[in-house]
Amino acid sequence: MPLVNMKPLLRHAMDNGYAVAAFNLVDYGTTKAMVAAAEELNAPVICQTSAKTIQYWSHREIVSWVRTVADDSAVPVVLHLDHCKDLAMIEACAREGWTSIMIDASSMPFDENLEVSKRVRDIAEKYGVGMEAELGQIMGVEDDMHVAEEDSVLTDPEDARVFCDALDLSAFACAVGTAHGFYKGEPKVDFDRIEAINKATRTPMALHGGTGLSDDTFAKAIARGSAKVNISTNLKHVFVDSFVQYTKDKPGDYEPLRVIDAQYKACKDLFGGFIEKFGGKDRAPAFMAQHG
Ligand code: 13P
Repeated sequence: MPLVNMKPLLRHAMDNGYAVAAFNLVDYGTTKAMVAAAEELNAPVICQTSAKTIQYWSHREIVSWVRTVADDSAVPVVLHLDHCKDLAMIEACAREGWTSIMIDASSMPFDENLEVSKRVRDIAEKYGVGMEAELGQIMGVEDDMHVAEEDSVLTDPEDARVFCDALDLSAFACAVGTAHGFYKGEPKVDFDRIEAINKATRTPMALHGGTGLSDDTFAKAIARGSAKVNISTNLKHVFVDSFVQYTKDKPGDYEPLRVIDAQYKACKDLFGGFIEKFGGKDRAPAFMAQHG
């Protein structure tokens, strides 16, 4: 089916107590694997792109991969732009076929962040796509943006209410104690804050920094309004490790198709595991009955 807008999908997820898994695609194989995993579980999925991945491949190539696999599948698929500061790139994504865009102006003071995010809201409205924006500073490294632990600022629920009221977001990214990349110690996720932000905003929350969180943490965050869970680092590791493992297990096998097939299968298993964990299994029909 054609790509879907992220807004109704995340509303459906929040209203029904599950989260849609969002994976940062690397190439055509990982894109195909995430949609195949979703299809096997009859679940929706979000294929998201880091800005540097778009710079590496191009808008045209990425949109052609995602459209190809989504058009051939029977489940709802979103093409979303992850953390981006560049308004020209954001507008290019909306124009070229992304069905959701993200502005990350979270390093700016509140008023400037809101101002820039409002400009992106106008872009999202112009092209009829979903939108995510961020308030607070999430720790760790994502797409060459680095936030040290001491610089991380957890999101204030009252500020979140003002921010979300002004923007009508599909997804609200906020700092609740999670971090991009692998955790060094035990993550200190602030579940009360998630709940308070959700009460104040009534906006589906995007839980960033999904790699390394426990099943219990996912379940608690989702029960409190996290409707989109982002996974990137875990995918990067499985992508590279499965290649290395194959060459160790089968030294001298230089058939590329067997190597990329091993990577594809490992990534697909990873995606399926997360989709199921987030409660996405068998959610596609109910969403499509309302929005198909
Ligand atoms: P991880 O890299 O920790 O999985 O976080 C992904 C993310 O939040 C992308 O925006």
